[in-house]
Amino acid sequence: MAEFSLPANSKVGAGKTHKAPDGATNTKTFKVYRWSPDDGENPHIDQYVVDLDSCGPMVLDALIKIKNEIDPTLTFRRSCREGVCGSCAMNIDGTNTLACTKYLSEIDGDAKVYPLPHMPVVKDLVPDLNHVYAQYASIKPWMRADSPPPPDGERLQSQEERKELDGLYECILCFCCSTSCPSYWWNGDRYLGPAVLLQAYRWIADSRDEATGERLDDLEDPFKLYRCHTIMNCTKTCPKSLNPAKAIGEIKKLMVERR
Ligand code: SF4
Ligand code: SF4
Ligand code: FES
Repeated sequence: MAEFSLPANSKVGAGKTHKAPDGATNTKTFKVYRWSPDDGENPHIDQYVVDLDSCGPMVLDALIKIKNEIDPTLTFRRSCREGVCGSCAMNIDGTNTLACTKYLSEIDGDAKVYPLPHMPVVKDLVPDLNHVYAQYASIKPWMRADSPPPPDGERLQSQEERKELDGLYECILCFCCSTSCPSYWWNGDRYLGPAVLLQAYRWIADSRDEATGERLDDLEDPFKLYRCHTIMNCTKTCPKSLNPAKAIGEIKKLMVERR
């Protein structure tokens, strides 16, 4: 029988426990993945017991409190703290989501906080996004049009044309979807994954863009597009309630229609 085991240097060990402050009665324990490239140690899980009576309501509030008051070495990305920048994407309680829009009250028991899965880790909760951003750049995510704009300088859309972009333009490139996709886990080197494909469709669906044929040519590839097997993890996890699986389906439909 085949046996699967993590390489020795990837095994996750137990870390330190930081107790609650004296007198705290309403507490929650955060079990947080830690790894640093600088100390040669294996990853480990540190535990922080946080006083919820002096903490904001979101997971990001708790992480900021931990960093400010308990352990300044804890490393994570964040910026907007209102679900629009995509920086604070991580795996919380077993689901990829945004720390700034995830309520602490939604988590029963201890809160387990890990980086987005199946990405190289830069440090602690920070994934290395270089590869996925290179994939994003490969779909040329800007309007491509050879015809000159009208003399008044603007390329207009009808309300119906503009509506075609609903459910697409809201994507904040947090990559919760791509890192929840089994096809992306196994073939992420060549499969573009749901986030980048949703973005590709955002430009294909834009009535002002004139490069639809070239965009479809670029995606007509057994790996870039067709590794999607409609497993739907992407749509289930998207913290903005978007439907990348549908966008991928629309691209596949256009591929068939133009044959
Ligand atoms: S629907 Fe496609 S992109 Fe979404 S999780 Fe499944 S395989 Fe991945
Ligand atoms: S589709 Fe949703 S989960 Fe995927 S990158 Fe965009 S906002 Fe994030
Ligand atoms: S901090 Fe910007 S989405 Fe969470």
